[in-house]
Amino acid sequence: MTNGLDDVVAAETVLSDVDGAKGRLVIRGHAVEDLAAGWAFEDVVHLLLEGFVDGLPAGEDLRSAIGSARLGVFKRISPHLAALRDLEPVDALRAGLSLLADGDDLDTALQLVAAPAVITAARLRMGAAKTPVAPDPANTHSADFLRMISGRPATAHAASGLDSYLATVSDHGMNASTFTARTVASTQAGLGSAAIAGLCALKGPLHGGAPGPVLAMLDAIATPQAAHGWLAEALARGDRLMGFGHRIYRVRDPRADALKQAIARLSSDEELAGRIALAEAVETAALDLLRTAKPDRSLDTNVEFYTAALLEALGFPAQAFTCVFAAGRVVGWIAHAREQAMTGRLIRPQSRYIGPAPQIAA
Ligand code: CMC
Repeated sequence: MTNGLDDVVAAETVLSDVDGAKGRLVIRGHAVEDLAAGWAFEDVVHLLLEGFVDGLPAGEDLRSAIGSARLGVFKRISPHLAALRDLEPVDALRAGLSLLADGDDLDTALQLVAAPAVITAARLRMGAAKTPVAPDPANTHSADFLRMISGRPATAHAASGLDSYLATVSDHGMNASTFTARTVASTQAGLGSAAIAGLCALKGPLHGGAPGPVLAMLDAIATPQAAHGWLAEALARGDRLMGFGHRIYRVRDPRADALKQAIARLSSDEELAGRIALAEAVETAALDLLRTAKPDRSLDTNVEFYTAALLEALGFPAQAFTCVFAAGRVVGWIAHAREQAMTGRLIRPQSRYIGPAPQIAA
C-alpha cells in the first residue's frame, strides 16, 4: 500500500487536467502555454470561476470588482497590521486570510482572490520599515500587486510577466493543496476555510515552498562553471535538488517552459541574461546528475525552478515566493472548493489499523 495516494482518482473535475506522461497541462480547455502567453489574471479568474460563483462579472466589470475587493481587504486588515509585521510572509498571509469572510458567495470569492496581493505587499513593506501602500482599484491586479510592493507604478512588461506567472500556477489538477481545499469544502465549511487550508498545504518545500530554496541554490552556485561540482556534492550528501522531480510528470513540467519564456519576454537586460545563463547551466548539470543518480526514476525540471528566476526578476524577495504562488493558486482552490461543494460528497476515507490490540484482562 502506498501512503501517498498515488494513482487514486479523488474527484471528477472540469477545471484542469495534468498529463504526466506527455507533459501537458490543460486548464478549462486551454493549454497552459496559451494562458501564460498573454491572458490577464482577471480573465483567468473568470475562466476558472465561471459557473461556480453566482453573479460573477466579466471583463472590465470583473477587473474593477477585484480592484474594489483589494481596497476592502486593505481596510479590513489595516487595524491588524502590527500583528502581521513580525510573522513570516506566508504566515502573515494565513493570519490575514482568517480576518476575511468565510461564506461561499461572490464577495467572499473576490476578497480571497484579492487578498494575497494586498496582505503580501503590506507585510513586505512593513518588513522593509516602509508604510503599506493602499490598493488602487484602477490598476490591473498584477500591476497593483507590484505597485503596492515597490511604491512605484509597474511597467507594462513587469505586470504582464506577473500575469503570465499567476496564469501558469492558477490550477494544477489534484495536488496536495487542492485536495486539502476540496476536503475542507466537502464538510460545507466556507471558502475562506478552504483557502487557508490550501495555503497551509502549499507552504511545505515539497509543494509550493521550493522556489525560495531554488534561489538560495542559484546564489550558492553563483557561476555556471561551479554548477556540476556543487550539485554533485549536494546529491552525495543525500539532498534533494529543489526545482526537480514531480509526482505526476515523468517529462519536463510544461509550466517550466511557460515561465522561462515569460522571463525572456521581461527584458533583454544583461544582468537578467546572466541569471538565465546560470539557471540554464544549473538545470543542465542537475538533469545530467539526476539521470545517473536515479536511473529508475525520471526526474525532470518542475515549475518551481524557473519560478525562482521569474519572481526574482519581477522584484519579489525569496521570502515572498510562496505567497505569490498562493496569489495565483487561490483561484484554483476557490473553483475546486465550489465544484466539490456543488457536485461532491463529504470526503471521508478510511485507514487500516496496524497498532496493538487492546489487552484482554486475564
Ligand atoms: N532530487 C534528488 N532526488 C530526488 C528528487 C530531487 N529533486 N526528487 C525525487 N528524488 C528521488 C527521491 O530521493 C527518491 O529516491 P529513492 O527512491 O532512492 O529514495 C526517488 O527520487 C522518488 O522520490 P519520491 O519522494 O517518492 O517522489 P515523489 O513523487 O514523492 O516526489 C517531489 C515528488 C516533488 C516531492 C520530489 O521530486 C521532490 O522532493 N522534489 C524537490 C522539491 C520540489 O522541487 N518541489 C516542488 C514540486 S513542483 C510543485 C507542485 O506542483 O506542487
